[in-house]
Amino acid sequence: MPVSIARPRSLRGEIIAPGDKSVSHRAIMFNALSNTGTASIKNFSPGADCTSTVEIMRSLGVEITREDGHAGMGDSLTVKGVGLNGLQEPADILDAGNSGTTTRLMSGILAGRDILTILTGDDSLKSRPMGRVIKPLSDMGAVITARDGDTLAPIVFHGGTLRGTNYEMPVASAQLKSCLLLAGLRADDKTKLTQPAESRDHTERMLSAMGVKLTKTDLEIVLEPSELQTVDVEVPGDISSAAFWMVAGVCHPDAELLIKNVGINPTRAGIVTALRIMGADLTLLDEREVAGEPVADILVRTSELKGIELSGDIVPLLIDEIPVIAVAAAIADGETVIKDAEELRVKESDRIQASVTWLKGAGVDVEGTPDGMILGGGNTIGGGEFQCYDDHRLAMSLGVAGLISSDPITVLDPDVAGISYPNFWEIIEDFGGMLG
Ligand code: S3P
Repeated sequence: MPVSIARPRSLRGEIIAPGDKSVSHRAIMFNALSNTGTASIKNFSPGADCTSTVEIMRSLGVEITREDGHAGMGDSLTVKGVGLNGLQEPADILDAGNSGTTTRLMSGILAGRDILTILTGDDSLKSRPMGRVIKPLSDMGAVITARDGDTLAPIVFHGGTLRGTNYEMPVASAQLKSCLLLAGLRADDKTKLTQPAESRDHTERMLSAMGVKLTKTDLEIVLEPSELQTVDVEVPGDISSAAFWMVAGVCHPDAELLIKNVGINPTRAGIVTALRIMGADLTLLDEREVAGEPVADILVRTSELKGIELSGDIVPLLIDEIPVIAVAAAIADGETVIKDAEELRVKESDRIQASVTWLKGAGVDVEGTPDGMILGGGNTIGGGEFQCYDDHRLAMSLGVAGLISSDPITVLDPDVAGISYPNFWEIIEDFGGMLG
């Protein structure tokens, strides 16, 4: 059912960010491979993507329990490790749903095993590039076939014997990096990766905490094949979910929002840097460490924003936030240029095309470019009816736009927000932003 959002008079209150999607996936997968017992995972992401990972691991014979969370915390899970080589052949095809992270990280886990596995997902997932993981895994010795010349899911893992690798990554992708490190755990020799730029480092942090010999020098990572020790994880709040409230808070004319328990790992926190350069009134409070990840509460207030150039090394550090940063850039004073973000074209949707289409429809001065977009700035976002191309981050960016637009914004397919943030629309309703 479509939802219509209209600007509430003020936007004030506290929000607890839901558990981080990237950390949640890793906490399940890595602990499933440990050989030292049962791990406890708290504040697990409530989104459908992480549930896909849980169900796939269960199909591979891993015992996972899940209980509802209390007092604003996400669900609590336990995972009983089966060891690096203990996964069982599943009775059926494995369904990753909409989740690129599940597909690419599981590819590193499933490659070169003596069980047959087939990994697939929804229509969006089946159109996303998988050659970037299949090619280097095959070079390591895995036998893998896939649709469209081994580039698209479904992906079939036939076995093989994994060799160590020395691989220069063509894209700054945490999914690709993590995939190859996971395969490297079972290889016959070291795995060395060179990244073109830093991307989120949750895999490196968690594997190190689990006793893996992993060294990192600038953009180079070397991993030695190792067993994993179980680690309990309290998942920090997801900065990619908090991002929607950060932008709503700085853009709304009468706002003060406190977003609690947000992971601010520097390889994820590009949006904090970007909004501050834009002039946002944004303060980090109570900075602390939770399970090896830096966390803070984030206070945002109504701000006078100015345009910015986003390019180069900061782009992978805020890649998922660009659709909502575009909302802030639309109303900021002066031009915003977003470059070096061609990866946006192969996310859950083509996020450059999807963002430019709806922004234009709402009267915003914006042009798409092959690797980003140029926003003229100084716009009032108008209303209208928009679709979000089955993309959760598009849906929520439209929700934020509705909180600050001159006329109501109707989101035609809002349920897709559940991929990462199932109660997003309830929070909009609590703020008085929901019409009808
Ligand atoms: C993720 C990495 C990013 C990001 C995705 C989650 C991860 O993708 O866009 O939402 O958990 O590793 P890429 O690494 O492919 O850029």
